[in-house]
Amino acid sequence: MLKTPIFRYCTLCFFAVPLRTIKVANTNIVSLVMKTRTNMKPDYGNWVPKRLLYGLLIAVLITTALLIGALVAGWAWPWMVLVAILLVVSAGFLCYMTVLYHVFSFSGGGLMGRVHEYVANHLPWDGRGRLLDVGCGAGALTIRCAKKFPEACCVGIDYWGIKWDYSQRMCQHNAEAEEVADRCTFQQGDANHLDFSDGSFDAVVSNFVYHEINDGKSREELLRETLRVLKPGGSFALQDLFGLKSAYGDFQGIIERLQTDTVSEIHYADSATEIPIPKWLRVSGMMPGVGIIYGKK
Ligand SMILES: C[S@@+](CC[C@H](N)C(=O)[O-])C[C@H]1O[C@@H](n2cnc3c(N)ncnc32)[C@H](O)[C@@H]1O
Repeated sequence: MLKTPIFRYCTLCFFAVPLRTIKVANTNIVSLVMKTRTNMKPDYGNWVPKRLLYGLLIAVLITTALLIGALVAGWAWPWMVLVAILLVVSAGFLCYMTVLYHVFSFSGGGLMGRVHEYVANHLPWDGRGRLLDVGCGAGALTIRCAKKFPEACCVGIDYWGIKWDYSQRMCQHNAEAEEVADRCTFQQGDANHLDFSDGSFDAVVSNFVYHEINDGKSREELLRETLRVLKPGGSFALQDLFGLKSAYGDFQGIIERLQTDTVSEIHYADSATEIPIPKWLRVSGMMPGVGIIYGKK
């Protein structure tokens, strides 16, 4: 009975039908995941944090309400003038920051993308080996390098403090959305003391990070710490507000000292004019003295 053809047929159907259903379902799930992945959009945030825009909007709403209240309640005019000044200042700042947000935005003016492209284009590297991005933020420069150098493995480190809207999770999401997650890793770290041994990378990049750091090493020591983890002969492209005297002092002196004892080749370029960064953005408090150093250790 167990070996009759009819039994074999029934057994086959019994197992085959559900197996086929599972297989079809699996195929559907896999294609759905793939589809969702390809529909994923990167989110690189903005150098103008959204929190700042919301804060300014709240300030404008509060001062508007105060002014209306003052008019209705008949406050003394000096108070009304004070509230009106606060309203004009907060509204003006909100407008300026909103324009700036748009200029920086990847989906708007695209300045952030052009700044990252400029750094990646100045890296004198064949793309073989490991690259480190110091202070990677949302991973935009790390991922751009991974796309430019298809053989490279890229590591991004960042402090991910409360000042910025960036996170490790955001970096990983972006790497997946850009389909380079298999070659990109992101980990928490401090540019003051990089958690890597000497000479562990073939290339290092960084953008707009060192001027932010005021709680440890001097700016020259920060540059040296980044170059420490670079192999002899490795490539670097580091961009920051190098022309800002209050941040770097005599930057030419720093370049000369690095040339003497650390690197074999170093160049400086005035990125602000080459990218270019609009003149109204090169002012104090925004992006003054933007420059890049690049070369070989
Ligand atoms: C202006 S954002 C630039 C982010 C990214 N490099 C880019 O170009 O979009 C400055 C970044 O420096 C990071 N940062 C500040 N202090 C740091 C530190 N001590 N170590 C590592 N990263 C730091 C911040 O978390 C932030 O992501």
